[in-house]
Amino acid sequence: MKKERIEIDYLIADSINELEDADRQLFEEAVKALETAYAPYSEFNVGAAVALENGEIVRGSNQENIAYPSGLCAERVAIFAAASQYPGVPIHTLAIAARHRKDLELENNALSGHVTPCGACRQVIMEYERLLEHPIRILTGATAGRIYIIENAESLLPLVFYSESLIKGR
Ligand code: THU
Repeated sequence: MKKERIEIDYLIADSINELEDADRQLFEEAVKALETAYAPYSEFNVGAAVALENGEIVRGSNQENIAYPSGLCAERVAIFAAASQYPGVPIHTLAIAARHRKDLELENNALSGHVTPCGACRQVIMEYERLLEHPIRILTGATAGRIYIIENAESLLPLVFYSESLIKGR
């Protein structure tokens, strides 16, 4: 028996001003998307924007439901919308922004926190990454703070369950 280790690399920008123009614009699209969230139960609005290889940008936001598990996270709303409107077109970057109710008290519409995709979203993002054979970069952060840039979805989901496992299991 031996011990193995999995490490992930990610970049940190001290503010959105450090981002390249295209990344900053995409992050701003995610911020716009959070205005369309329907989150009366959690009061936590999440916006996502995906940039596709064909130049299109598709937005999504979290949509909740009184039957709680029926809602969906912003990331999956955006990715499923992109996959259904532009099937087969790789996604190269996903930006995510979040606003808690308390952020409404901050000045200049600042956002205080960042959100990283939940486990179910990671599984979904990773599958499109492999299906379309293109890494999906993930940008997430706060307008009032740091931005994380994760180079691909798979690094957020080590030892992922994927179709090879299913086929080998047969
Ligand atoms: N949520 C997202 O939309 N994305 C995430 O990455 C984490 C959580 C949503 C789901 C729910 O509507 C609310 O945030 C609180 O969990």
